[in-house]
Amino acid sequence: MVIPQHVAIILDGNGRWAKSKGMPRNYGHARGAKNLETICRDAYNMGIKYLTVYLFSTENWKRSKEEVDALMKLFRSYTKTCVKTARDNNMKVRVLGDPTALDQDLQDSLARLVESSKDNTGLNFQIAINYGSRDEIVRAIRKAAQDCMDGKLQPEEITEERFAGYLDTAEVPDPDLLIRTSGEQRLSNYLMWQLAYTEFYFTEVPWPAFTKDDLWQAIEKYNSRDRRYGGVKEE
Ligand code: IPE
Ligand code: IPE
Ligand code: MG
Repeated sequence: MVIPQHVAIILDGNGRWAKSKGMPRNYGHARGAKNLETICRDAYNMGIKYLTVYLFSTENWKRSKEEVDALMKLFRSYTKTCVKTARDNNMKVRVLGDPTALDQDLQDSLARLVESSKDNTGLNFQIAINYGSRDEIVRAIRKAAQDCMDGKLQPEEITEERFAGYLDTAEVPDPDLLIRTSGEQRLSNYLMWQLAYTEFYFTEVPWPAFTKDDLWQAIEKYNSRDRRYGGVKEE
């Protein structure tokens, strides 16, 4: 079995899962955050080197104030727990997205999490929070344009590789496998540049119920795919 080096996940369905149990949506978010810790460990034990998860999109601010507040509260406690999990499991954490819209205390804890885990050599764990692919690309273009204005970069020097270095995922290889839970089959503004040649796997299982066995099924399916990158398969 070939283990994908980088797995990206759109962890969806927390709300619907909770509703199906007669519980409030926020219960689903809490259980989803718990499950993320379990899946992180499982992913690393399976040999996955990079795991990138979508926690909050630039569009998720449209949700009710009550839900956004509950999510931010959850991210606060998750970020603190993650410092310990990262230490125990040797995880190097990176944050994707624009943190400036988050409350200062959450920005500070995210920065502490990144700093305290930067020398770890196990799982590379990327959390996308206030992340949107279009926003990431626009921010990257602004940085590149500023470097051009400052004379550090010439427009003709902007190649695909150089441009990728301005994205939040600089230094992270592109995902091999994208998993979206809970039945929706869309990207919802996730990693549009990085997923150019990624294999997609969709499952009906909602995120809080997603297990190691479900991850394994996704990897099995990935193994049955024929990745070509525009070429022709050698017979
Ligand atoms: C995913 O679950 C978590 C976030 C987007 C924050 P949802 O909250 O989208 O759950 P559903 O899709 O409404 O069931
Ligand atoms: C995508 O899920 C964002 C995250 C998982 C954080 P959504 O549930 O917000 O996506 P849409 O609105 O169904 O496309
Ligand atoms: Mg959803």
